[in-house]
Amino acid sequence: MGKTIQKAVFPVGGMGTRFLPATKAIPKEMLPVVDKPLMQYAVEEAYAAGIREMIFVTGRHKRAIEDHFDTAYELEAELEASNKRALLELVYAIKPDDMDCVYVRQPRALGLGHAVLCAEKLVGDEPFAVLLADDLMVGQDQADGGATVLQQMVAAFGQNPGTVLAVQDVPREDTRRYGVVDVHGASDRMAEVFGMVEKPKPELAPSTLAVAGRYILTPAVFDSIRRQPTGAGGEIQLTDGIAALIGVEKVYAFRYQGKRYDCGSKEGFLEATMDLALANPELSAGVRAHMNRIINGS
Ligand code: G1P
Repeated sequence: MGKTIQKAVFPVGGMGTRFLPATKAIPKEMLPVVDKPLMQYAVEEAYAAGIREMIFVTGRHKRAIEDHFDTAYELEAELEASNKRALLELVYAIKPDDMDCVYVRQPRALGLGHAVLCAEKLVGDEPFAVLLADDLMVGQDQADGGATVLQQMVAAFGQNPGTVLAVQDVPREDTRRYGVVDVHGASDRMAEVFGMVEKPKPELAPSTLAVAGRYILTPAVFDSIRRQPTGAGGEIQLTDGIAALIGVEKVYAFRYQGKRYDCGSKEGFLEATMDLALANPELSAGVRAHMNRIINGS
């Protein structure tokens, strides 16, 4: 098994119904937090982890994602002509020259496991990362050059090759929203997983360690997903495919250092917007002043 991860899979076929009406004509992954679409945050995280091949598993109505990572001829020509160098650099930086974007369609929304399976031919026989763009992850100290969450995971994988799942503690009443793992040594940074279940009821959850939307998977997961019957929510679940690998290959839960924003929910999306605006040197003073006015009722 190679020790570097060269490919990332981004399942983006979902309908985004939780964000209607905003997502009627725009993919949810293109909603911006401050000034960047969620999709770009996830791609930048993968790029920072050394990944150069981005595989998007798309669906109908997702053309805006392909356009975002493609050349925008008219825009670039306009910016060149008016000599707006800074804006031009911003546009070019979306897709660095050494990064490849490839697209495959998920013909029907049959679940996350099914979406990952759609990328099988493009991934081939090597370990790969999966990033769910509506989980916006900010590594601890990332703004000061610290590691992104996926960078942390790739480093962990380098030391302990196998499946690596990003996990975080959640309140017990929230287990029904996540894949939940069973580990020994729950407080260890990297712990071996002995069981995994998708969206358990709080009383049935094996722990409160929930999987966030970052995975390093091995190619064995494809056959494993294929063998799974329909799971929670009537969908082909990635969690079930990974759970079936436990005992066959090593599966680790990795407690990342950083913060996860659930941008699939309005609350999480607003939290991300506020935090990232406060962290933005151009915006922080104005946003902070506005927040103070709200708090003080003036
Ligand atoms: C998916 C996975 C779940 C994971 C979650 C993280 O669920 O199925 O195991 O915990 O992402 O965001 P979804 O949010 O798509 O329902």
